[in-house]
Amino acid sequence: MALNYYAKELKENAQLLASKGKGILAVDESTKTVGKRLAGIGVENTEENRKAYRGMLFTTKDLGKYISGAILFEETLFQNHPDGEPMVKKLNDLGIIPGIKVDKGLNPLPGGKDVETFCSGLDGLVERAAKYYEQGARFAKWRAVLQITSDGCPSNLSIQENAWGLARYARSVQEAGLVPIIEPEILMDGDHTIEKTAEVQEEVIKTVYKACQTNGVLLEGTLLKPSMTVNGADCSDKADPQKVAEMTIRTMERCVPASVPGIVFLSGGLSEEAASVYLNNMNNLYRKAMWNVSFSYGRALQHSCLKAWKGSDLEAGQKALIARAQANSEASKGAYVPGSQPSSDEQLFVAGYKY
Ligand code: 13P
Repeated sequence: MALNYYAKELKENAQLLASKGKGILAVDESTKTVGKRLAGIGVENTEENRKAYRGMLFTTKDLGKYISGAILFEETLFQNHPDGEPMVKKLNDLGIIPGIKVDKGLNPLPGGKDVETFCSGLDGLVERAAKYYEQGARFAKWRAVLQITSDGCPSNLSIQENAWGLARYARSVQEAGLVPIIEPEILMDGDHTIEKTAEVQEEVIKTVYKACQTNGVLLEGTLLKPSMTVNGADCSDKADPQKVAEMTIRTMERCVPASVPGIVFLSGGLSEEAASVYLNNMNNLYRKAMWNVSFSYGRALQHSCLKAWKGSDLEAGQKALIARAQANSEASKGAYVPGSQPSSDEQLFVAGYKY
């Protein structure tokens, strides 16, 4: 079985990705989504500009001190840096493991409620993953999305389908030597309380691991990428950072097997500063499980950086990126001093966010 062939390497790479003091840079925005980010700084969405932006990120000196892996969009994995060298080489030179988003996006879920979706991309996935491995990728990401609504979402159908899809994906990419990042995101949209989020998230994550068991996923060669346990964006009862940390860790301890080497949170629309503070607080709590608790942020690592880069200012862009990378590295060790690095408090939440 191919999974047995890769088992040792999968475990080693998952451990490397979950190294203490390091986290993951999510820079796998689809061409459409990165276009929105570039539009925000007045830059046109051309291949050249995408290459310039991501090339700037991947040549940031010392980034590998804080970042263990970078998740790429397919275009970037096969792309060269403006200087002609492969992007993959740039990352390897920094000691950063290249990863790849392998899902093909969200579709409306037949039989589900209005907002419910399933994640596509399973057909031919083992073969695709083998090509990504050949190109230098060593891990993968698949993002399933669930939403909490007052009319009963997520439905049981949507939980079952999204958990099953994540487990099928995880097993498929492991067959080709890629460590799967399993991402069941609960959106922040809604006015529900933090307690409601915790209840839903527990059910979702437990269902994911049950499906992983059925599919024979090697848990030691995976990472979990959940959203933090937070109240809905429109809830009047706002949980403070300590409560978010406690509820999130409680949820993880109730659901995530000890054999999983790392939990890397997504930022999901939290501000840069909140994403660092919540992670820092989690790492200052007494914990029963040994998994590394770190980050796999997209918006919370790139927001200030994009604004500083503005299309051409390489030095300012890299300075802003390294500041957030260092802050989150410190937070992953419980050593972040809030406000000690330049950051933004701007809420990055967008209703109905599509990645
Ligand atoms: P955000 O941190 O911006 O939520 O993105 C992380 C990610 O990779 C979502 O799939």
